[in-house]
Amino acid sequence: MSVNKTISIIGCGNIGSAIANGLIKSDYKPSNIFLTKRKSDDFEEFAKLGFNVTTDNKKAVKQSDIIILAVTPQQLNVVLEDIKSAIKPKKHIVMSVVSGASIKQIKKHLEKEVSVVRVMPNTAIAIQESMTCICADEKDIESVKIAKEIFDSVGKTIQINEELMGAATALCACGTAFFLRAVRAASQGGIEIGFHANEALTMAAQTAKGAASMLLKEGKHPEREIDKVTTPKGITISGLNQMEHNGFSSSMIKGIVTAAEKAQKIYANND
Ligand SMILES: NC(=O)c1ccc[n+]([C@@H]2O[C@H](COP(=O)([O-])OP(=O)(O)OC[C@H]3O[C@@H](n4cnc5c(N)ncnc54)[C@H](OP(=O)(O)O)[C@@H]3O)[C@@H](O)[C@H]2O)c1
Repeated sequence: MSVNKTISIIGCGNIGSAIANGLIKSDYKPSNIFLTKRKSDDFEEFAKLGFNVTTDNKKAVKQSDIIILAVTPQQLNVVLEDIKSAIKPKKHIVMSVVSGASIKQIKKHLEKEVSVVRVMPNTAIAIQESMTCICADEKDIESVKIAKEIFDSVGKTIQINEELMGAATALCACGTAFFLRAVRAASQGGIEIGFHANEALTMAAQTAKGAASMLLKEGKHPEREIDKVTTPKGITISGLNQMEHNGFSSSMIKGIVTAAEKAQKIYANND
């Protein structure tokens, strides 16, 4: 059972702390989780929740079964160099959320045939609502099972081929920002037509949640549901078509494609 394993999150920034907060809302104990970063400024906050906190990556690795790498692509090589002597292939599973760094590149820097699983969650993991994409080499099937167990407890998971990891980053990790901007834009529209900012934001966010829930809970198709809202000669179609004349779908698609291209290249120059 992965819930009894000791986990180190190396790089406790935006996504590292979101993973930590999500795991303790699930069945994972903070006393089994080590959080590391170089600056100890916000350690007190994490220590109060019961996490083990340290600036010593190697110490954390030595006391853990699972190591989640959550630093930026530019910081990854320094971390791999730092921890490689403490990595024991028979004991450890390395899980990397670092964009763009391949399994092969991580293993090369660790100079070991350790199990490496790439995991791409999003910040909604903090409230157990992540969409997490997972990939690993075929032989690491047992490690994938453990990764699925951990990340299923904090949202949904899907196993994909490694070559789609950049695309998964764009659609699911960056996607959080894309959908939040859409909700923010809707709320700004709401303010212009008469609502206070806080009312407009709640109204826009709940409407977005309801729309997404129809797809997820009932397996509906978006266009079929749009057809139900668009009365002939009606209000919704006039607003929707105005948005499309201004490139609504096209700009979302272009943004996702651009982000996916960048995700593929972001670590390349560091290797
Ligand atoms: N943010 C997201 O939504 C998201 C989602 C999925 C994947 N990712 C990926 O996750 C990675 C991290 O992204 P982020 O947004 O969380 O970045 P971030 O907020 O900058 O977090 C990186 C953390 O790593 C720490 N760090 C840097 N060097 C370190 C070292 N040598 N040892 C230990 N800790 C170190 C930093 O703290 P100190 O400076 O104090 O060391 C910082 O807390 C990126 O590769 C990103 O692409 C992010």
